[in-house]
Amino acid sequence: MTQITLAMAKGRTAKDSLSLLNQAGITFPDFDSKSRKLVFYSADKKVKMINVKAIDVTTYVEQGAADIGIVGKDNILEADADLYELLDLKLGICKFVVASLNDQPIEKGDSLKVASKYTRVTEDFFKEKEVNVETIKLNGSVELAPLIDMADAIVDIVETGTTIKENGLTILDEITDISTRLVVNKASFATKTKEIQDFITKLKNVVE
Ligand code: PRP
Repeated sequence: MTQITLAMAKGRTAKDSLSLLNQAGITFPDFDSKSRKLVFYSADKKVKMINVKAIDVTTYVEQGAADIGIVGKDNILEADADLYELLDLKLGICKFVVASLNDQPIEKGDSLKVASKYTRVTEDFFKEKEVNVETIKLNGSVELAPLIDMADAIVDIVETGTTIKENGLTILDEITDISTRLVVNKASFATKTKEIQDFITKLKNVVE
């Protein structure tokens, strides 16, 4: 039997992703969200699941340490990794936005400091808009940066909008929609085609 390795993003979307796998008949009987274990096997042993930080999923998949990955489009865009993105799981739906303390639009030729966990996405977006940006890389609580005058704006994900609202920020631009995606290592797709396609078909039947 050929086993496939799935890199699963830990964190806010993990519960919904596991529930989707469950509905697709891919169950992990030994999985316990409170456990510190990092490797789990599906009931039929066809899938080995490794639980990794969301930001690292594309690295495991690109390196071939995992054949497939389940991760948010935000991390896929930021990683710009060489892999296939084959299915939208339609979970973890949110948006990439530009937000600031004031509602003044950012215009071509402006120069500003932008704080974000996603500096590549930030740079790509503003390059296209012909706005000069200095990015400040943060790893969380990004909404704080404009409040303490460390940045003119932020690029971050918005789900319910609560964090933006509670910190008095205004959304100036929407960059793109985000949801959880299934990504595949290119070599694995050639060598484990049937196993990966079976896995995708099972998920597709639940998603669609
Ligand atoms: C994310 C994101 C926003 C917030 C958006 O942060 O970076 O801060 O969620 O969600 P909302 O629109 O529903 O308020 P996360 O909770 O991952 O924590 P962090 O600030 O440590 O990155």
